[in-house]
Amino acid sequence: MLEIHVLGISGSLRRGSYNTALLHAASELLPEGMTLETFDLSSIPLYNDDVRALGYPEPVKEFRDRIAAADALLIATPEYNYSIPGVLKNAIDWASRPPNPPLDGKPVAIMGASTGNFGTVRAQMHLRQVCVYCNMLPLNEPEVLVMRARDKFNADGRLVDETARELIRDMLLALANWVRRLRASSTTFASP
Ligand SMILES: Cc1cc2nc3c(=O)[nH]c(=O)nc-3n(C[C@H](O)[C@H](O)[C@H](O)COP(=O)(O)O)c2cc1C
Repeated sequence: MLEIHVLGISGSLRRGSYNTALLHAASELLPEGMTLETFDLSSIPLYNDDVRALGYPEPVKEFRDRIAAADALLIATPEYNYSIPGVLKNAIDWASRPPNPPLDGKPVAIMGASTGNFGTVRAQMHLRQVCVYCNMLPLNEPEVLVMRARDKFNADGRLVDETARELIRDMLLALANWVRRLRASSTTFASP
């Protein structure tokens, strides 16, 4: 069985982030043949096209290289004001630019935790819209929406809600199948 290497990205820089904790939970629930490592967005500067024209800053280079090397991304996004956090959008903006934008054609699974009642559904829909322009290949289902996060994690920040854990397990399995299906397909995807 071919290995699937996944890069996990949290849209929250907060030490006690529920979304970063979702990535930790995912690392405990990986199907056979899948590995997961994460990239911390705190080193990514604010996007500036003048800076890009002079050459990508080191942390951005590393971020782009890590995306390019991954078979798929797993993004855990908070919801900020009904959308994705600026931190995440900013990082995507850097990764979306030429030459060879590493997001182009990249399979991605999306999940999110919020303290509210809707579990980041609005942010996830916005993120899917961003994926369209970047020509990413998001997994459609299952959707992982962890609402009322304060009730789903223990005091150590571990996801203890069994339903949510099961959903993440199912999503990772679906992601593995998605990546294998895309690998097997001879379809080529044109850049936008
Ligand atoms: C600027 C800001 C905007 C927020 N907007 C929303 C929102 O639109 N919907 C929602 O459910 N929660 C919202 N929240 C609450 C977040 O769901 C909550 O802070 C969550 O814990 C953030 O994710 P994290 O734990 O990974 O940092 C907002 C929080 C912040 C700081």
